[in-house]
Amino acid sequence: MKCFQVYLIVACVAVIASCQSTVKQTKDMTNGGRKWWKEAVVYQIYPRSFKDSNGDGVGDLSGLTSKLDYVKSLGVDIIWLNPIYASPNADNGYDISNYDEIMKEFGSMADFDTMLSEMHKRGLKLVMDLVVNHCSDEHEWFRQSRSSRTNPYRDYFHWWPAEKGKPAFRPGSFEVDGSGWRYDSLTNSYYLHYFSYKQPDLNWENPKLRQEIFAMMNRWFKKGVDGFRMDVIPFIAKDTTFPVVTEKELKEKYNGDWSQYMASGPGLHSYLQEMNREVTSKYDVMTLAEGAGTTKATAMNLVDPARKELDMSYHFEGVSLGYLPGEFKQMDPNGYKLTEFKKIYSEWDSVFAEKGWGTIYLGNHDQPRMLTRWGNDAPEFRVASSKLLSTFLLSMRGTPFYYFGDELGMSNIKFDKIEDYKDIETLGMYGQIKNNGGDLQRFLNGQKISARDNGRTPFQWDASVYAGFTTGDPWLKVNDNKATVNVEAAEKDPQSTLNYFRKLVQLRKDRKDVLVYGKYTLLDKDNPDVYAYLRDSGTEKVLVLLCFNKNGATFDLKGMKTGAEWINNLGPLKISGDQVQLQPYQACIVQLK
Ligand code: NOJ
Repeated sequence: MKCFQVYLIVACVAVIASCQSTVKQTKDMTNGGRKWWKEAVVYQIYPRSFKDSNGDGVGDLSGLTSKLDYVKSLGVDIIWLNPIYASPNADNGYDISNYDEIMKEFGSMADFDTMLSEMHKRGLKLVMDLVVNHCSDEHEWFRQSRSSRTNPYRDYFHWWPAEKGKPAFRPGSFEVDGSGWRYDSLTNSYYLHYFSYKQPDLNWENPKLRQEIFAMMNRWFKKGVDGFRMDVIPFIAKDTTFPVVTEKELKEKYNGDWSQYMASGPGLHSYLQEMNREVTSKYDVMTLAEGAGTTKATAMNLVDPARKELDMSYHFEGVSLGYLPGEFKQMDPNGYKLTEFKKIYSEWDSVFAEKGWGTIYLGNHDQPRMLTRWGNDAPEFRVASSKLLSTFLLSMRGTPFYYFGDELGMSNIKFDKIEDYKDIETLGMYGQIKNNGGDLQRFLNGQKISARDNGRTPFQWDASVYAGFTTGDPWLKVNDNKATVNVEAAEKDPQSTLNYFRKLVQLRKDRKDVLVYGKYTLLDKDNPDVYAYLRDSGTEKVLVLLCFNKNGATFDLKGMKTGAEWINNLGPLKISGDQVQLQPYQACIVQLK
């Protein structure tokens, strides 16, 4: 054979092999196929605080519907709404008294139908909150259940007859006495509530209860909703012999963490597989676990497609960073270490590197504002650090869950007085600390950073007295920075955090091979100031540079050659040789040659 022919054959083989490897790589990178919910950006709306249409100071569905053009203008695809079902509101809707009715303050079922159809008209999908670890003590099931020991609904809940003595300790998160059991004299029994006594836990071991839940989910899917975010779903399964859990066991098996003990008990996966068979597999919908108590070792069991359970889950390791151990959400005075932050998000990325699909978030209704917690809300850094955090969320692998108002750079309200708080969590902890003679001032100082109400203040539409949220008296105070931080001002400013967020969302869509599906690799892991990583689709590679330091920092390219900057919050990168000089809170996604 002539030399030239040999060369041709070798070259062809090489081209075929490289095509195959690209094809293979692209296929693998989608982790079981492209899906709308992998490519989507989710925008979470806390309906109580978005837009009030009737002047009662509480956001509602008609208000929300009137603002759908704004939501659409962001470029997001899915709206996740916190619970809107009938509820006495002990925990702002996470205590449901009727799963088939709309909360009175939020409107009617007709308002819901209009809202859903207006969302769908705009190509927006709706993910509802599914709260089925517990319901309200005002739900008919519970009214029946507590009425007598022989009532047919008795076994819809977990009861402990008092003649057996006191049940073994279980925590009740929102209770002043810290106990997850409440004595009910009517039947001389205790019932279990992992949250407040107004939120009795449902008994998933009862097949009748499971059928009720599945039927209810089917009714909502038939109405056209596009998915569920499942509240503390790993908690539905627990050891119902309720053994005493020793400190030693808790420490050794569950890292001293009750939420790990309380989660993922016997039966969890069979319940979720049953739910998949009976409900979710029948529709093209998205399911998301609030992965309370899950770990890197257990999360895959919820989302491995082969197991036919859920699509995605979110973890708590990231948002738990920086708190002092053993204290209720007290920040370490030294803040958090960026190296630990990078480690957590990189390790979680690797959990879903081959299969399953991850999520990414920095804020939600259970968290303070991301700007205050993870960025810098000082006036001179607000815009840059908001944009930096948005760049992180929109350039990681995994579906971004973006919390409403973060696109404006909303920050914590930092209440001084306990009287300003409305959240059952803060009030419960305050009561506990007070009863134990603890340091209340220290607690209140800590809450300025960590309280959930910081993330629940009314959305800021304009600079008017109640920020355009309501004409009445808002249920929770409006942040004074509405004077400058609001939609109206942000719309007029091409450099606003709002317009930057829109650009980022568009960029993620335009470059989805690399920004959604591309492989993630952490660079320079020990750099204390810069979070740098690669995203690589096999045919395209980008470098994401995020400077978390308020004094700026440097990054060494180590021979990497940069190309076009796809987005940059502070103007072009300053590069000299291999050294990039990053400005305070600079963020950039730059192509690599
Ligand atoms: C998790 C929810 O996100 C939170 O807001 C609520 O308080 C608890 N679950 C109880 O439902």
